[in-house]
Amino acid sequence: MQVNLAEAVALLKAGHVVAIPTETVYGLAADARNESALREIYAIKERPAHNPLIVHIGSSEQVLDWATGFSELAQKLAAVFWPGPLTLVLPARSAVSSVVRAGEPTVALRVPAHPVAQALLQQSGLGLAAPSANKYTQLSPTSAQHVLNGLGEAVPVLDGGACQVGIESTIVAVDGNQWQLLRLGMITEVALTAVAGVPQQIQLRPPKAPGQHLLHYSPQTPLQLFTSRAALIDAAARENSCAALLLGDGLIEHCTSFNVPNNPVGMAEKLYDTLHRMDALHVEKLLIEAPPRTVEWLAIHDRLARASHSLN
Ligand code: TXA
Ligand code: MG
Repeated sequence: MQVNLAEAVALLKAGHVVAIPTETVYGLAADARNESALREIYAIKERPAHNPLIVHIGSSEQVLDWATGFSELAQKLAAVFWPGPLTLVLPARSAVSSVVRAGEPTVALRVPAHPVAQALLQQSGLGLAAPSANKYTQLSPTSAQHVLNGLGEAVPVLDGGACQVGIESTIVAVDGNQWQLLRLGMITEVALTAVAGVPQQIQLRPPKAPGQHLLHYSPQTPLQLFTSRAALIDAAARENSCAALLLGDGLIEHCTSFNVPNNPVGMAEKLYDTLHRMDALHVEKLLIEAPPRTVEWLAIHDRLARASHSLN
């Protein structure tokens, strides 16, 4: 069910969940201080309770409402990358609900850049807990229609158009003057290191965000990755029914072909929408032309590997 901005603000303040646009993916939002609203998020997503949620805030001025400290390093990262697709995991104040942080001693914070998300945060005055607005393990939504298809008409959705970043935020744990990447995203390790001034410290925290596991971001249709167009064409010839995702131009015979821009920013923006459309064809196999393994493509590699159920 579509709602407008004023309705979304009223619903959130009354302790209901609303799917909202952000620049990365759509989030299933609720008042981060309202535990029954938070439980509703877990129930709708069918998400295990041990997987914590990101709290979205209006600006870095609100960080200390949630975290016990905002180190110089965390402030530097926030100053450059907020508002935007960066989530900072910081030591949590004890008052932060253990439901939102799933019992962790830390809280994940993000200031989203999307103007509609910003308007919601300003007008509601709330911190909004919001995981991606999809069922657990399924593809993240990058449009209001994806949310309705995945979660059903009963969930209120605020339409803010197609998400421009297109994949989930980069997650970084910061402890004092040390940092560690917990989830790859379009803000790369190189960009983070340049701002941090020090390389990441591996094993600062458990290496993965608790919610990072293999069966994530998956379409329903089996998906296979190919490191060359030639290998993909060979495989397509052996399939009864397939769809192909191609980097840049091209067309594969006997296979519905989808073309995405052959650059990381352009492909990220279209990735989930394209996978949603390929999945809807109900073919036997999705064949994906994998991008090169250079640093700027790593986040896309990560999502494709998870979608293919084979992390490599
Ligand atoms: O771009 C995004 O991050 C989107 C939009 C809606 O903001 N949100 C998103 O949320 O991707 P979700 O719940 O699908 O993924 C959040 C990830 C999970 O893997 C979770 O385990 C991790 O963040 N996370 C949350 N709080 C954490 C914490 N305190 N420590 C470590 N990881 C945490
Ligand atoms: Mg998610």
